[in-house]
Amino acid sequence: MKNSMWSGRFESQSSELLQVFNASLTFDKLLYKQDIQGSIAHANMLCHCAIISEAEKDAMIKGLKQIEAEIEARNFSFDIKDEDIHMAIEKRLSALIGAEIGGKLHTARSRNDQVVTDFKLFAKEQNQLLQNLLKELIETLLTHAKTHKTTIMPSFTHLQHAQPISFSFWILSYAFMFMRDIKRLKASFELADFSPLGSCACAGTSYKTDRTMSANLLGFKDIMPNAMDGVSDRDFALDLLYNIAVIFMHTSRLCEELILFSSAEFDFIQISDAYSTGSSIMPQKKNPDVCELIRGKTGRAYGNLIALLTTMKALPLAYNKDMQEDKEGLFDSVKNATQSLIILNAMLKEISIKKENMLKACQKGHLLATDLADFLVREKNIPFRKAHFIVGEVVAKADKMGLDLSELSNLHELEPLFDEVNAKRLLNFENSLNAKQSEGSSAVKSVEKQIKILENFLKGDKVA
Ligand code: ARG
Repeated sequence: MKNSMWSGRFESQSSELLQVFNASLTFDKLLYKQDIQGSIAHANMLCHCAIISEAEKDAMIKGLKQIEAEIEARNFSFDIKDEDIHMAIEKRLSALIGAEIGGKLHTARSRNDQVVTDFKLFAKEQNQLLQNLLKELIETLLTHAKTHKTTIMPSFTHLQHAQPISFSFWILSYAFMFMRDIKRLKASFELADFSPLGSCACAGTSYKTDRTMSANLLGFKDIMPNAMDGVSDRDFALDLLYNIAVIFMHTSRLCEELILFSSAEFDFIQISDAYSTGSSIMPQKKNPDVCELIRGKTGRAYGNLIALLTTMKALPLAYNKDMQEDKEGLFDSVKNATQSLIILNAMLKEISIKKENMLKACQKGHLLATDLADFLVREKNIPFRKAHFIVGEVVAKADKMGLDLSELSNLHELEPLFDEVNAKRLLNFENSLNAKQSEGSSAVKSVEKQIKILENFLKGDKVA
């Protein structure tokens, strides 16, 4: 008894244990669209190369489209015995149009090139989806950046108060991370844009096929030039997993800051009720679960990358069944990344920004100390190291008085190098912000430039 498409040489049926263990159908059915797309392109190519007739091609395409409709209407009966989506669809095609014609679809093709083609089409599509979601996220960040150019907040290094910045400047730093993520995705897309279809098992085929034709039909820029590499390559999946890991690294940092900033200790922002959760016991609680989940999912995203890298390590060429393990991690990562970007964007649109609290926080931690030192360097020709020391002494005096530098009315008395007029000018947060001259700084002018860079990027770079 034989029970599989490949069982010609087998004398007995495979065990049920093997069928379940070997099958990927439970998860790779997600690739049904790409599989049908790939088969239609392959059928067209076979006909163009006179390997099948026009009528056979038409029957195949009609059957494949019907199968697509059946799957989408949930009318398709998935059977684990079919092993994977590729065989499930092929079996159904033969049932619909007869094995005489259906059986010809797999000419000049192997499941090895078929599976990697489908998976690559999926990866390319998800890559573009992520690029678009990141663009939408940048747009939201830009909206906040435009309204908060003079909303003063403290910056932190070592999580200790550092220097005054604007909320706009802070949020733009994330927009630039996401811009780089888009650029990284684009670069990976380019590398993935080569079709493996027609590589067959690993050595090519004795039919005179036209791989460029099927590649073009599938939207690939070109073909993989080496069939062995064509079926063995999973770099495109690793690239996407790495891209997603970096996106999560960025969103986890943003989420971490949103969690801190919405705590009672900081109280800089408020996450709207629509994106907050309550506690089952403490009636007063509002928790930032969305941010925590995104931060938490970062671990899975890293894990999926490491898992596939490890699966691929030292794997001999060409196809090995190990490679069936490439899918679930990527499916998991793209699902989590798309969901996370969508909800993060929606949540960010609704955050409220507590200007007064941010300003109040600036009055702790002597944020203006560097401005005082820079003044001594600029106006009094004192070397920076010495200026640093002098201001350090002023800070110590202020501390003893229980005051922040910004609250001092007698700076000129504490340190005669400062006069009253300059002291007043220097001990002002907005002045500190705009005193920055370097490119890329927190000054309003510089922030406006940064907004322009991002706007230009979004304009010139729309992915269709
Ligand atoms: N289900 C397999 C996978 O996802 C398809 C490729 C099978 N090829 C083979 N030679 N058994 O990797």
